[in-house]
Amino acid sequence: MRPVYLDYAATAPLLPEVRRWLTEAGFETAGNPSSLHRFGRQARMELEQARERCAAALKARVEEIVFTSGATESDNLALSGALAPGDHFLVSAVEHPAVLERARWLAREHRLQILPVDARGLVAPEELLRCLRPDTRLVSVMWVNNELGTIQPIAALGAICREHGVLFHVDAVQAAGFLDLSPERLGIDLLSLSGHKLGGLSGSGLLYVRRGLRLASQLAGGGQEDHRRAGTPNLSGAASLGLALERAATNRANEGARLGGLKGRLERGLSRLPGALRLSGAAPHISAWRFAGLRAEAILVRLDLEGIAASSGSACSSHSLEPSHVLQAMGASQEEALGLVRFSMGWQSKEQDVDRLLEVLPNTLAELAVTR
Ligand SMILES: Cc1ncc(COP(=O)(O)O)c(C=O)c1O
Repeated sequence: MRPVYLDYAATAPLLPEVRRWLTEAGFETAGNPSSLHRFGRQARMELEQARERCAAALKARVEEIVFTSGATESDNLALSGALAPGDHFLVSAVEHPAVLERARWLAREHRLQILPVDARGLVAPEELLRCLRPDTRLVSVMWVNNELGTIQPIAALGAICREHGVLFHVDAVQAAGFLDLSPERLGIDLLSLSGHKLGGLSGSGLLYVRRGLRLASQLAGGGQEDHRRAGTPNLSGAASLGLALERAATNRANEGARLGGLKGRLERGLSRLPGALRLSGAAPHISAWRFAGLRAEAILVRLDLEGIAASSGSACSSHSLEPSHVLQAMGASQEEALGLVRFSMGWQSKEQDVDRLLEVLPNTLAELAVTR
Protein backbone atom coordinates (compact mmCIF):
# COMPACT_ATOMS: atom_id res chain seq x y z
CA MET A 1 0.00 0.00 0.00
CA ARG A 2 1.61 3.27 -1.14
CA PRO A 3 1.12 5.95 1.53
CA VAL A 4 -0.65 9.09 0.35
CA TYR A 5 0.15 12.37 2.06
CA LEU A 6 -2.58 15.01 1.76
CA ASP A 7 -1.70 17.18 4.75
CA TYR A 8 0.67 19.82 3.36
CA ALA A 9 -1.15 22.62 5.17
CA ALA A 10 0.09 20.98 8.38
CA THR A 11 3.65 20.43 7.18
CA ALA A 12 5.50 19.54 3.99
CA PRO A 13 8.29 17.04 3.25
CA LEU A 14 11.80 18.52 3.07
CA LEU A 15 12.83 19.89 -0.30
CA PRO A 16 15.84 18.31 -2.04
CA GLU A 17 17.71 21.65 -2.06
CA VAL A 18 17.27 21.89 1.73
CA ARG A 19 18.62 18.36 2.22
CA ARG A 20 21.58 19.27 0.01
CA TRP A 21 22.30 22.44 1.99
CA LEU A 22 22.15 20.52 5.27
CA THR A 23 24.58 17.85 4.15
CA GLU A 24 26.97 20.26 2.43
CA ALA A 25 27.12 23.88 3.72
CA GLY A 26 25.15 23.14 6.90
CA PHE A 27 27.40 20.23 7.82
CA GLU A 28 30.53 22.31 7.46
CA THR A 29 29.37 25.51 9.17
CA ALA A 30 30.43 25.29 12.80
CA GLY A 31 30.37 28.92 13.94
CA ASN A 32 27.94 31.15 15.75
CA PRO A 33 27.00 34.04 13.43
CA SER A 34 27.82 36.51 16.23
CA SER A 35 31.41 35.25 16.70
CA LEU A 36 34.23 37.29 15.23
CA HIS A 37 36.50 34.41 14.14
CA ARG A 38 36.47 32.81 10.71
CA PHE A 39 33.91 30.15 11.69
CA GLY A 40 31.58 32.86 12.95
CA ARG A 41 32.11 34.90 9.79
CA GLN A 42 31.28 31.86 7.66
CA ALA A 43 28.07 31.29 9.63
CA ARG A 44 27.20 35.00 9.35
CA MET A 45 27.70 34.81 5.59
CA GLU A 46 25.32 31.84 5.32
CA LEU A 47 22.76 33.60 7.52
CA GLU A 48 22.91 36.79 5.48
CA GLN A 49 22.62 34.83 2.26
CA ALA A 50 19.43 33.27 3.63
CA ARG A 51 18.18 36.74 4.54
CA GLU A 52 18.92 37.98 1.01
CA ARG A 53 16.99 35.06 -0.46
CA CYS A 54 13.98 35.80 1.78
CA ALA A 55 14.14 39.53 1.04
CA ALA A 56 14.33 38.89 -2.72
CA ALA A 57 11.33 36.53 -2.58
CA LEU A 58 9.32 39.24 -0.78
CA LYS A 59 10.73 42.12 -2.86
CA ALA A 60 11.78 43.54 0.50
CA ARG A 61 15.00 44.92 2.02
CA VAL A 62 17.30 42.63 4.01
CA GLU A 63 16.90 44.75 7.14
CA GLU A 64 13.14 44.08 7.01
CA ILE A 65 13.60 40.33 7.61
CA VAL A 66 13.65 39.06 11.22
CA PHE A 67 14.30 35.33 11.60
CA THR A 68 12.15 33.56 14.21
CA SER A 69 11.43 30.00 15.37
CA GLY A 70 8.33 29.75 13.15
CA ALA A 71 5.11 31.55 12.33
CA THR A 72 3.74 31.09 15.84
CA GLU A 73 6.57 33.24 17.14
CA SER A 74 6.27 35.66 14.22
CA ASP A 75 2.56 36.18 14.91
CA ASN A 76 3.20 36.65 18.61
CA LEU A 77 6.06 39.07 17.96
CA ALA A 78 4.02 41.09 15.48
CA LEU A 79 1.17 41.69 17.92
CA SER A 80 3.09 42.00 21.18
CA GLY A 81 6.01 43.90 19.63
CA ALA A 82 3.94 46.53 17.84
CA LEU A 83 1.21 47.25 20.42
CA ALA A 84 1.45 49.50 23.46
CA PRO A 85 -0.84 49.14 26.50
CA GLY A 86 -4.24 50.68 25.89
CA ASP A 87 -4.06 50.39 22.07
CA HIS A 88 -7.20 49.24 20.28
CA PHE A 89 -6.58 46.43 17.77
CA LEU A 90 -8.60 44.23 15.44
CA VAL A 91 -8.08 40.55 14.74
CA SER A 92 -10.24 38.52 12.37
CA ALA A 93 -12.36 35.73 13.85
CA VAL A 94 -10.79 33.11 11.58
CA GLU A 95 -7.13 33.65 12.51
CA HIS A 96 -4.78 30.83 13.44
CA PRO A 97 -4.57 30.28 17.22
CA ALA A 98 -1.06 31.83 17.13
CA VAL A 99 -2.80 35.17 16.51
CA LEU A 100 -6.11 34.59 18.28
CA GLU A 101 -4.66 33.26 21.53
CA ARG A 102 -1.99 35.97 21.69
CA ALA A 103 -4.69 38.57 21.01
CA ARG A 104 -6.87 37.21 23.83
CA TRP A 105 -3.90 37.31 26.19
CA LEU A 106 -3.10 40.88 25.15
CA ALA A 107 -6.72 41.87 25.77
CA ARG A 108 -5.84 42.18 29.47
CA GLU A 109 -3.95 45.41 28.77
CA HIS A 110 -5.05 46.32 25.25
CA ARG A 111 -8.45 46.79 23.65
CA LEU A 112 -9.17 43.78 21.45
CA GLN A 113 -12.04 43.69 18.99
CA ILE A 114 -12.73 40.60 16.88
CA LEU A 115 -13.41 41.36 13.21
CA PRO A 116 -16.37 39.25 12.05
CA VAL A 117 -16.34 37.36 8.75
CA ASP A 118 -19.19 36.78 6.31
CA ALA A 119 -20.75 33.39 5.48
CA ARG A 120 -17.83 32.66 3.10
CA GLY A 121 -15.28 33.35 5.84
CA LEU A 122 -14.14 36.67 4.38
CA VAL A 123 -13.49 39.99 6.08
CA ALA A 124 -15.46 42.57 4.10
CA PRO A 125 -13.59 45.88 3.61
CA GLU A 126 -16.76 47.75 4.74
CA GLU A 127 -16.71 45.73 7.96
CA LEU A 128 -13.12 46.76 8.62
CA LEU A 129 -14.04 50.41 7.99
CA ARG A 130 -16.96 50.09 10.41
CA CYS A 131 -14.75 48.65 13.18
CA LEU A 132 -11.85 51.13 12.89
CA ARG A 133 -11.60 53.69 15.70
CA PRO A 134 -9.38 56.73 16.16
CA ASP A 135 -7.27 54.76 18.66
CA THR A 136 -6.91 51.62 16.49
CA ARG A 137 -3.23 50.80 16.23
CA LEU A 138 -3.16 47.44 14.42
CA VAL A 139 -5.26 45.11 12.27
CA SER A 140 -4.37 41.43 11.82
CA VAL A 141 -5.93 39.38 9.01
CA MET A 142 -4.50 36.15 7.62
CA TRP A 143 -4.00 35.93 3.85
CA VAL A 144 -5.10 32.35 3.20
CA ASN A 145 -7.07 30.43 5.79
CA ASN A 146 -5.34 27.21 6.85
CA GLU A 147 -8.58 25.27 7.38
CA LEU A 148 -10.57 26.22 4.28
CA GLY A 149 -8.17 27.91 1.87
CA THR A 150 -10.24 31.09 1.64
CA ILE A 151 -8.27 34.06 0.31
CA GLN A 152 -8.87 37.39 2.06
CA PRO A 153 -9.04 40.66 0.07
CA ILE A 154 -5.64 41.70 1.40
CA ALA A 155 -5.02 44.54 -1.09
CA ALA A 156 -8.33 46.25 -0.20
CA LEU A 157 -7.83 45.75 3.55
CA GLY A 158 -4.22 47.00 3.30
CA ALA A 159 -5.34 50.12 1.43
CA ILE A 160 -7.83 50.93 4.20
CA CYS A 161 -5.19 50.44 6.91
CA ARG A 162 -2.69 52.62 5.06
CA GLU A 163 -5.28 55.36 4.51
CA HIS A 164 -6.12 55.39 8.23
CA GLY A 165 -2.53 55.14 9.46
CA VAL A 166 -3.16 51.74 11.10
CA LEU A 167 -0.55 48.97 11.14
CA PHE A 168 -1.49 45.92 9.07
CA HIS A 169 -0.26 42.45 10.06
CA VAL A 170 -0.79 39.51 7.70
CA ASP A 171 -0.19 35.85 8.52
CA ALA A 172 0.87 34.66 5.06
CA VAL A 173 1.88 31.11 6.01
CA GLN A 174 -0.57 29.40 3.63
CA ALA A 175 -0.18 31.95 0.83
CA ALA A 176 3.54 31.67 0.21
CA GLY A 177 3.49 28.80 -2.30
CA PHE A 178 1.33 30.42 -4.97
CA LEU A 179 0.83 34.17 -4.38
CA ASP A 180 3.10 37.16 -4.96
CA LEU A 181 3.62 38.28 -1.39
CA SER A 182 5.43 41.65 -1.93
CA PRO A 183 4.22 43.26 1.34
CA GLU A 184 5.18 46.82 0.47
CA ARG A 185 3.02 46.84 -2.67
CA LEU A 186 -0.02 45.81 -0.61
CA GLY A 187 0.34 48.16 2.36
CA ILE A 188 1.44 45.35 4.71
CA ASP A 189 3.59 46.40 7.67
CA LEU A 190 4.17 43.01 9.28
CA LEU A 191 4.03 39.60 7.58
CA SER A 192 4.54 36.15 9.12
CA LEU A 193 5.94 33.10 7.32
CA SER A 194 6.87 29.57 8.31
CA GLY A 195 9.57 27.34 6.77
CA HIS A 196 8.11 23.87 7.26
CA LYS A 197 4.91 24.51 5.30
CA LEU A 198 7.08 25.03 2.23
CA GLY A 199 9.55 22.16 2.56
CA GLY A 200 11.99 23.93 4.89
CA LEU A 201 12.76 22.86 8.47
CA SER A 202 10.27 22.96 11.33
CA GLY A 203 11.26 25.65 13.80
CA SER A 204 12.08 28.19 11.09
CA GLY A 205 10.15 31.31 10.28
CA LEU A 206 10.39 35.01 9.69
CA LEU A 207 8.60 38.22 10.39
CA TYR A 208 8.79 40.93 7.72
CA VAL A 209 8.89 44.27 9.53
CA ARG A 210 8.43 47.31 7.30
CA ARG A 211 11.44 49.63 7.37
CA GLY A 212 11.10 52.31 10.04
CA LEU A 213 8.62 50.38 12.18
CA ARG A 214 9.91 49.93 15.72
CA LEU A 215 9.25 46.56 17.26
CA ALA A 216 9.93 45.60 20.88
CA SER A 217 11.81 42.28 21.21
CA GLN A 218 9.74 39.83 23.22
CA LEU A 219 12.72 37.82 24.41
CA ALA A 220 15.23 39.31 26.83
CA GLY A 221 18.79 38.50 25.84
CA GLY A 222 21.37 39.45 23.22
CA GLY A 223 20.92 42.04 20.49
CA GLN A 224 20.51 39.57 17.62
CA GLU A 225 18.30 40.37 14.62
CA ASP A 226 18.89 44.09 15.15
CA HIS A 227 17.50 43.95 18.70
CA ARG A 228 14.16 42.58 17.51
CA ARG A 229 14.63 38.89 18.38
CA ALA A 230 17.17 37.89 21.04
CA GLY A 231 18.89 34.49 20.87
CA THR A 232 21.35 32.74 18.56
CA PRO A 233 19.65 32.49 15.18
CA ASN A 234 18.69 29.05 13.88
CA LEU A 235 21.08 29.05 10.92
CA SER A 236 19.89 25.77 9.36
CA GLY A 237 16.29 26.87 9.75
CA ALA A 238 16.94 30.27 8.20
CA ALA A 239 18.87 28.71 5.31
CA SER A 240 16.05 26.23 4.69
CA LEU A 241 13.48 29.02 4.71
CA GLY A 242 15.56 31.07 2.28
CA LEU A 243 15.78 28.14 -0.14
CA ALA A 244 12.10 27.25 0.22
CA LEU A 245 10.93 30.83 -0.32
CA GLU A 246 13.23 31.27 -3.29
CA ARG A 247 11.79 28.15 -4.88
CA ALA A 248 8.24 29.25 -4.09
CA ALA A 249 8.80 32.70 -5.61
CA THR A 250 10.36 31.24 -8.77
CA ASN A 251 7.71 28.55 -9.33
CA ARG A 252 4.61 30.13 -7.89
CA ALA A 253 2.67 30.62 -11.15
CA ASN A 254 3.35 27.09 -12.46
CA GLU A 255 2.94 25.48 -9.07
CA GLY A 256 -0.31 27.33 -8.43
CA ALA A 257 -1.69 26.12 -11.76
CA ARG A 258 -0.46 22.55 -11.19
CA LEU A 259 -1.99 22.36 -7.70
CA GLY A 260 -5.17 24.01 -8.97
CA GLY A 261 -5.42 21.21 -11.57
CA LEU A 262 -5.05 18.55 -8.86
CA LYS A 263 -7.62 20.29 -6.69
CA GLY A 264 -10.07 20.43 -9.62
CA ARG A 265 -9.64 16.69 -10.19
CA LEU A 266 -10.15 15.98 -6.49
CA GLU A 267 -13.21 18.22 -6.19
CA ARG A 268 -14.90 16.89 -9.33
CA GLY A 269 -14.60 13.41 -7.86
CA LEU A 270 -15.69 14.32 -4.33
CA SER A 271 -18.67 16.39 -5.43
CA ARG A 272 -20.22 13.19 -6.90
CA LEU A 273 -20.31 11.54 -3.47
CA PRO A 274 -23.68 11.54 -1.70
CA GLY A 275 -23.85 14.04 1.16
CA ALA A 276 -20.55 15.73 0.24
CA LEU A 277 -20.55 19.47 0.90
CA ARG A 278 -17.67 21.55 -0.44
CA LEU A 279 -16.34 24.23 1.90
CA SER A 280 -13.10 25.15 0.12
CA GLY A 281 -11.96 28.65 -0.66
CA ALA A 282 -9.93 29.61 -3.74
CA ALA A 283 -6.42 28.57 -2.61
CA PRO A 284 -5.18 25.90 -5.04
CA HIS A 285 -3.67 23.60 -2.42
CA ILE A 286 -6.53 23.25 0.10
CA SER A 287 -9.76 21.33 -0.44
CA ALA A 288 -12.16 21.38 2.53
CA TRP A 289 -15.30 19.24 2.91
CA ARG A 290 -18.04 18.11 5.17
CA PHE A 291 -19.82 14.77 4.67
CA ALA A 292 -23.41 14.87 5.89
CA GLY A 293 -23.89 13.49 9.39
CA LEU A 294 -20.27 12.31 9.78
CA ARG A 295 -17.60 13.58 12.11
CA ALA A 296 -14.16 14.27 10.70
CA GLU A 297 -12.37 12.10 13.23
CA ALA A 298 -14.10 8.90 12.15
CA ILE A 299 -13.26 9.56 8.50
CA LEU A 300 -9.64 10.47 9.22
CA VAL A 301 -9.03 7.33 11.29
CA ARG A 302 -10.40 5.12 8.48
CA LEU A 303 -8.37 6.94 5.84
CA ASP A 304 -5.26 6.54 7.95
CA LEU A 305 -5.84 2.76 8.04
CA GLU A 306 -5.82 2.91 4.24
CA GLY A 307 -2.53 4.85 4.27
CA ILE A 308 -4.07 8.23 3.48
CA ALA A 309 -3.11 11.21 5.67
CA ALA A 310 -5.54 14.14 5.83
CA SER A 311 -6.60 16.47 8.59
CA SER A 312 -9.54 18.07 10.31
CA GLY A 313 -8.18 21.62 10.28
CA SER A 314 -5.22 23.03 12.09
CA ALA A 315 -2.59 20.49 13.16
CA CYS A 316 -2.41 22.00 16.63
CA SER A 317 -5.96 20.97 17.39
CA SER A 318 -6.21 17.75 15.39
CA HIS A 319 -5.53 15.57 18.43
CA SER A 320 -8.56 16.98 20.16
CA LEU A 321 -12.19 16.95 19.16
CA GLU A 322 -12.53 20.70 19.02
CA PRO A 323 -14.94 22.00 16.42
CA SER A 324 -13.50 24.32 13.77
CA HIS A 325 -13.60 27.91 15.08
CA VAL A 326 -13.40 29.03 11.45
CA LEU A 327 -16.65 27.30 10.47
CA GLN A 328 -18.31 28.50 13.65
CA ALA A 329 -17.32 32.10 12.88
CA MET A 330 -19.05 31.59 9.52
CA GLY A 331 -22.28 30.56 11.25
CA ALA A 332 -21.96 26.74 11.36
CA SER A 333 -23.32 24.77 14.31
CA GLN A 334 -20.98 22.91 16.64
CA GLU A 335 -21.91 19.57 15.07
CA GLU A 336 -21.25 20.91 11.57
CA ALA A 337 -17.94 22.36 12.75
CA LEU A 338 -16.88 18.89 13.94
CA GLY A 339 -17.24 17.59 10.38
CA LEU A 340 -14.52 19.59 8.62
CA VAL A 341 -12.13 17.38 6.63
CA ARG A 342 -9.19 19.04 4.90
CA PHE A 343 -7.10 17.61 2.06
CA SER A 344 -4.06 19.72 1.26
CA MET A 345 -1.41 19.29 -1.40
CA GLY A 346 2.09 20.48 -2.15
CA TRP A 347 5.31 20.02 -4.06
CA GLN A 348 5.31 16.20 -4.15
CA SER A 349 1.56 15.69 -4.70
CA LYS A 350 0.55 13.82 -7.84
CA GLU A 351 -2.57 12.72 -9.69
CA GLN A 352 -2.11 9.20 -8.27
CA ASP A 353 -2.57 10.62 -4.75
CA VAL A 354 -5.87 12.20 -5.71
CA ASP A 355 -7.00 9.07 -7.55
CA ARG A 356 -6.18 6.85 -4.57
CA LEU A 357 -8.31 9.06 -2.31
CA LEU A 358 -11.17 8.98 -4.80
CA GLU A 359 -10.90 5.19 -4.90
CA VAL A 360 -10.93 4.76 -1.09
CA LEU A 361 -13.26 7.48 0.18
CA PRO A 362 -16.61 6.27 -1.24
CA ASN A 363 -16.29 2.94 0.64
CA THR A 364 -15.10 4.68 3.79
CA LEU A 365 -18.12 6.97 3.78
CA ALA A 366 -20.53 4.14 2.96
CA GLU A 367 -19.19 2.00 5.84
CA LEU A 368 -19.42 4.87 8.28
CA ALA A 369 -22.96 5.69 7.17
CA VAL A 370 -23.98 2.08 7.94
CA THR A 371 -22.38 2.02 11.41
CA ARG A 372 -23.84 5.40 12.37
C1 LIG B 1 -1.93 30.13 9.05
C2 LIG B 1 -0.92 29.62 10.02
N1 LIG B 1 -0.34 30.47 10.86
C3 LIG B 1 0.58 30.05 11.75
C4 LIG B 1 0.95 28.74 11.84
C5 LIG B 1 2.01 28.32 12.83
O1 LIG B 1 3.23 28.06 12.15
P1 LIG B 1 4.45 27.34 12.86
O2 LIG B 1 4.16 25.89 12.84
O3 LIG B 1 5.65 27.70 12.00
O4 LIG B 1 4.59 27.91 14.21
C6 LIG B 1 0.36 27.81 10.97
C7 LIG B 1 0.68 26.37 11.09
O5 LIG B 1 -0.17 25.57 11.44
C8 LIG B 1 -0.60 28.26 10.04
O6 LIG B 1 -1.19 27.41 9.18
